[in-house]
Order: sequence, then C-alpha cells, then structure tokens
Amino acid sequence: MDIKSLLVKNIRIDGVSEQELYALLKKSDGVNADYALPCFKFAKVLGLPPQKIAERLAEETSKDGIVSRAVAVNGYLNLFLDRIRVEKEVLSAVIDGQLFDDKVGEGKTVCIDYSSINIAKPFHIGHLGTTAIGSALYKTYKALGYHVVGINHLGDWGTQFGKLIVAYKLWGDKEKIDKGGVRALQEIYVRFHQEEENNPDLTRQAREWFAKIEKGDETAMQLFEYFKAITLNEVKGVYKRLHVEFDSWNGESFYNDKMQPILDLLDEKGLTEISDGAKIVNLEKYNMPPCLLVKADGATLYATRDLAAAKYRHDTYNFDKCLYVVAYQQNLHFKQFFKVLELAGFDWADKLEHVAYGMVSLADGSMSTRKGNAVWLSDVMDKAVAKAGEIIAAKNPDLVDKAEVAEQVGVGAVIFSALANSRIKDIVFDYDRVLNFDGETAPYLQYTHARCCSIVSKAGALDFDKCDFSGLAGEESWEAVKLLNEFGDILLAVTEKNEPSLLSNYLLDLAKAFNRFYLVNRVIDEGKVCQARLAVVNGIKSVLQKGLELLGIAAPEKM
Ligand code: ARG
Repeated sequence: MDIKSLLVKNIRIDGVSEQELYALLKKSDGVNADYALPCFKFAKVLGLPPQKIAERLAEETSKDGIVSRAVAVNGYLNLFLDRIRVEKEVLSAVIDGQLFDDKVGEGKTVCIDYSSINIAKPFHIGHLGTTAIGSALYKTYKALGYHVVGINHLGDWGTQFGKLIVAYKLWGDKEKIDKGGVRALQEIYVRFHQEEENNPDLTRQAREWFAKIEKGDETAMQLFEYFKAITLNEVKGVYKRLHVEFDSWNGESFYNDKMQPILDLLDEKGLTEISDGAKIVNLEKYNMPPCLLVKADGATLYATRDLAAAKYRHDTYNFDKCLYVVAYQQNLHFKQFFKVLELAGFDWADKLEHVAYGMVSLADGSMSTRKGNAVWLSDVMDKAVAKAGEIIAAKNPDLVDKAEVAEQVGVGAVIFSALANSRIKDIVFDYDRVLNFDGETAPYLQYTHARCCSIVSKAGALDFDKCDFSGLAGEESWEAVKLLNEFGDILLAVTEKNEPSLLSNYLLDLAKAFNRFYLVNRVIDEGKVCQARLAVVNGIKSVLQKGLELLGIAAPEKM
C-alpha cells in the first residue's frame, strides 16, 4: 500500500503537481503527526501565509479515507492516519501474498558478475563478500521482475596454468587429485614455486606450456580442462550449500578470440600507444596510471579481457545495468577500464557499475594468505555448522532433522555476516558473534521466523474475515504493520544502491518489532481480536521467510 500516494491524492493546491506534493510530504514521528506537509513553498503561488494554507488544507482533507485527523500547526499540514484501517488493508494484501510489487523490473535486464573464482585456486573467505552480496542482488532483482544474468567470470587464464601443467607432469597423481580436488592441485602448485627457486628451467618449461595452451595444443588443453573440471565440480558443491546460482560460467578464457576486435577499435580511435613495447591507453589526463592492454611479449591482460567481456555482455544481453561485485582492492582496475570504454565512445559505458565491498578477516587471525594458507570458505561453513549443531542440541534436544537445521543455521550465519553491514566496510568474522541467537544475526532472524511458525501452527488457520482489527490499536502492532508495508520500498532501495544490507537491517528491525509485539499481545486464544493479531504474525512470518530467501538464507520452521 503506497500510503504517501493515497495521501497526496487527497491534497489539492492549484499550480502544484502531485509529484511535487509527493516529494514534500514527509513521514513524521507518529506523535505530532504520521505525515506532515510543509506549506511554506506554496505561499508565493497562492499569495497566502503558510499557516492559512495549512488550515485550508486541513479543512478540505476528507476524513473518510485513510486520514483520521488533519491539523494545521506552524505552517505544516499534519496528518494522522486511521491506523486500524491502514493495518487492515496492509495485512489483507500481505495475507494475499502481495508482499511487494514484483513487476517494477519488467522489460529490464541486469547482468551481475559475482563470485568469479579462480580455477585451481582456493575458494577462500575473501570470496564470501562477492558471493553473498552478488547472490542477494541476483535474487532481489529477479524477485522485482528484472531479467537477470548471473555471471561467474572465472579466472581461468594466465601463466599459472603453464606452471600447473609442469607441476602435474612432474609430481601429479591423478587419483590423488581426483580425490583431493583443488587442495591437491594447490599442493603441487606450491611445490612448483619452492623448486622453481633452485631450478630456473622449470620457469622456462612453464612458459612453454602456457604458450601451448595459447595455441590450443591438444595435451595442454586436456590438462587445462581437467584442472577446470576439478575446480568446478568442487565449487558447485559450495554454491549449492550457499543457494547461489549462475546463468553463465564464461570466464576469462572465453574472451581469447574476442579481444582483437576491441583492440583494433581502440587503435582506430587513436586511443592506444606503445610504451616500452607494451600497448597501453594513456589515462594521465584522468589522473590514472595507464591501462595496460598487451604486454611486450604479446600477452593480453586482465583488463583486456574485461573490455572484451563488457562488449560481449552488451551485445549479447543488451543490459540496462551491468554490475561487478568485486572487492574494493580493484577500484582502480574498474575505473580504468570503464574510462577506456567511455573514451571508445560506447554510450552504454555508464551502465557499468563496480559494486565494491570490503575485506574479511578472521577474529582468530587465521587469515594469512602470504604463506599460501588461505582460509577456505567451505572450512568456515563446516565449522559454523558444527557450532550451530552444538547450540541447537543444547537448546532443543528433541528437534528432529537436527543436522539439516544445523546446516541451515550455520551456513545462514556465514552468509549473513557478509550482508549485515554496508558492503564497503571491512569485516572481522567471529564464529560466536555470527551464531549468537540473540544478536544481529541470521540465527536470530531464523529463530524469530520459527517462533512465528510455531504460533501459527498452534493457533490454527487464519480467518481474515473474522478479524477484529481493534485488537491492533497498540503502538507495537502499528510499528510491526508499518514495517510490513515497507518491505517493497526496501527491496527497491536494495536495487537502487546495490546494497543488500538495507534488507538485512530491515529484517532485523522487523524481527525486533515482532518480539515487542508478541510481548504485549496475546495471540493464541479464542476471539476475533486474537485473529487480527494472528494476521500480524502470519504477515511477519511471510516477510521474514521471503526476506531470508532473497538473502540466500534458509528459514527452517522449527529450530
Ligand atoms: N577472478 C577475479 C579475482 O578473484 C575477480 C573477477 C571479477 N570480475 C571481473 N569481471 N573482473 O580477483
């Protein structure tokens, strides 16, 4: 229910448009008014003092709609809502399954590049941000009716694959790698670096093998594809646990044959120059170091592939937005290649957006990637699930499906840790904090949802026609229902700012509002008043469930 629109329709001032009124009308504190309209701006048009205008509007405001009272105070038109009526309408929509407008994105396409892990490298905790934020955006845009293309821009190109082939040829054991996966690949990769120090010939061999990959040599390609398959098989298991989906797995190597045309175009436009044998775009004028396109030895770069990928995405999907959910460490990279596309005259360059996020470190200090001992995301998930299992066993020993609920709670806690704060902030991951059932956490939301489920199942089926909404006269009911009505606006804000934490924080507010509501309102009892309260609980349950789903978090009914 768009309360502001309804209120604006009720106010008429000659020479002032509905849009203008909409922008001026502001939510108020709920004590002096529910909404207030400052009338100072109309004084000139109408040739009247603001207070007079407010008085006139107060008189004209019809009281048979959603307004119960209108008063003029110091040049403001203060409006009070007929809360019971609003509550009834909001709940009726929510109970009907209309939680938000799911058509706002119709006809529009959004590409989201997220997670974008590297082949044969650990899927580590540093990827949690891009994976969780990207997935939440993916689900939210989709829910709003957008056509969404989720892209895992795999890091599957680079000289490291030459090294890996040499390592595999020397020390690889297929059986061991089939079983051990990326960890086993990492082991021989690390060994390569150790032995390379005393054996420069290994470096030469690695270069040779990479050249073979570039030429598409059969043996080289077979091994390359094998490493890729091992990695993908493993990460797909992790994505499944995280409820993360992709529509495209086109990684960097996909663009091998798509870079030349864009390089030619940049040449034609006179944007490129040769510097120390390398091809670059000079960005001095824009206070940036040059964007490196082709190295002196002819090798292309990360940026070259991103240029080709952006053009490919535009040509293939004709996007309205193309988002890159990538850590802020790459700020410069994105600024540079966006600038190059703009200079090349692509009018869609302003539709690209770098959705940057902060770093994760572990509270126990276990994040020391320098020595190659990265913290694997799946290990963090396993540990969180084990801890969630202990908490659940203590809190609810009779629960059936304990293992499944522990998985939902543990994994949910990990995901939520990356979504709870504004994305640009660095986070320190702490198991006890993210699993605190009383904290600002996923388990708190899941627990509140499970409480709603239990009330609903105890109270039995809701009969909306038998609700006496006078049972919702209290402040706690009003706060809860008002929040339910804001769900749609929150989802819009999430997509406008590409900021899922707005949804996380909203859900925390809603859960707290539920707990305050439930403290003072008897729900499970006979009578029409309790039926109305049960409608509130049903509504909160639906919105919590949907909201968690959009964040990629399961909502068990019991825990
Ligand atoms: N694979 C890269 C990394 O791990 C991230 C790729 C992000 N996407 C992109 N189009 N550049 O740092």
